[in-house]
Amino acid sequence: MSAMIELVDVVKRYGDVVACNRLNLAVEQGELVTLLGASGCGKTTALRCITGSLRPDEGRIIIDGRDVTDVPTHKRNIGVVFQNFALFPHLTVLDNVAYPLRVRGIRPVVRRERALEALRLVRLEGLGGRFPRELSGGQQQRVGLARAIVYEPNVVLFDEPLSNLDAKLRLEMREEIASLKDRLGFTSIYVTHDQEEALSLSDRIAVMKDGVIHQVGRPTEIYAEPRTSFVAEFLGNPNRLTGVCVDRIQDQVVVEADGQRIVATDASGTLGIGDRAVVYVRPESVRIQDGDASPDETTLRATVVRSAFLGDSTEYILALSDKVNWHLRLDHATRLAVGEEVNLVAPRPGGRAFALAGSPVDGSPGVALGER
Ligand SMILES: Nc1ncnc2c1ncn2[C@@H]1O[C@H](COP(=O)(O)OP(=O)(O)O)[C@@H](O)[C@H]1O
Ligand SMILES: [Mg+2]
Repeated sequence: MSAMIELVDVVKRYGDVVACNRLNLAVEQGELVTLLGASGCGKTTALRCITGSLRPDEGRIIIDGRDVTDVPTHKRNIGVVFQNFALFPHLTVLDNVAYPLRVRGIRPVVRRERALEALRLVRLEGLGGRFPRELSGGQQQRVGLARAIVYEPNVVLFDEPLSNLDAKLRLEMREEIASLKDRLGFTSIYVTHDQEEALSLSDRIAVMKDGVIHQVGRPTEIYAEPRTSFVAEFLGNPNRLTGVCVDRIQDQVVVEADGQRIVATDASGTLGIGDRAVVYVRPESVRIQDGDASPDETTLRATVVRSAFLGDSTEYILALSDKVNWHLRLDHATRLAVGEEVNLVAPRPGGRAFALAGSPVDGSPGVALGER
């Protein structure tokens, strides 16, 4: 089966800024793929190349097997949901939703019927006569959603649709989008800087930085097997240990820093003994030792620096050395006192190692609460 949306070597520059630097991505029919990356990495530019509001400088956009690179926006049959809702303030909710049908020359009677149906789908029936200013943020974004699906596009694009909503509404709308997609079966590219949103909604995630896609994969895959240190660092707020590779057994390496050792998977496969390396360790993959560690585990020594009560758990900051702090969440069954010395147990491998070029060994400040 051929892909529903395809980006082939897409390049887009603004003067000297290369916003999209040779993007290649194929989204299958019915799939939701997220472009995940920090602000300014080129996500919106990529979406605008797909909708047709920007023309790529190089490369092609293929939708449903058709090269649409030079096809105008309104002939691409794509729905878009925007971060700022982008509703017409002077039109009623119903007229906002019906607007794309009007542009397409659909008769008023049919327009009304289909707009009402779209409003029903986003559970806003009865509010068609209101104006956008008479709605809450969440309701306004539902109108945006209804407007994007009203002409039953095969492809719906989302540009940070939840960013302007508060935390509780974000969760609710996330669920709404997932459920709508299940029912309607459209193919989606979803743009966000929020890793939790990406992990929870996506069939696959494309992690972007500076106009480049670093890795594309299923959420579990990206999280467990990051291929670049950027991806490892970007997802899941990992702990870090920066040191020197002192041993190597098949695809695993032993990295030592300040007398502490951890076994890690050599993610790039290029680490040699004596090389500088950074190891990313998921907080949930280590535990506090009670009893003996098994032979397929390693232990690290740590001192409790600080704790923060989070309601369902407590987050501890643990010093592995005077330069390296790790964080760890524990349920209330385990209580640690500030100043207490503990052993941390990590599996083998306990993380993923990447070569570190140029920077001084153990120049890593570690990760502390509130740092990001
Ligand atoms: N119209 C524009 N003119 C010049 N530079 C732009 C324009 N739009 C975006 N950029 C730049 O292109 C890069 C990517 O922007 P954008 O695609 O909006 O990123 P994102 O959506 O990931 O935040 C940024 O460096 C941004 O400053
Ligand atoms: Mg953007």
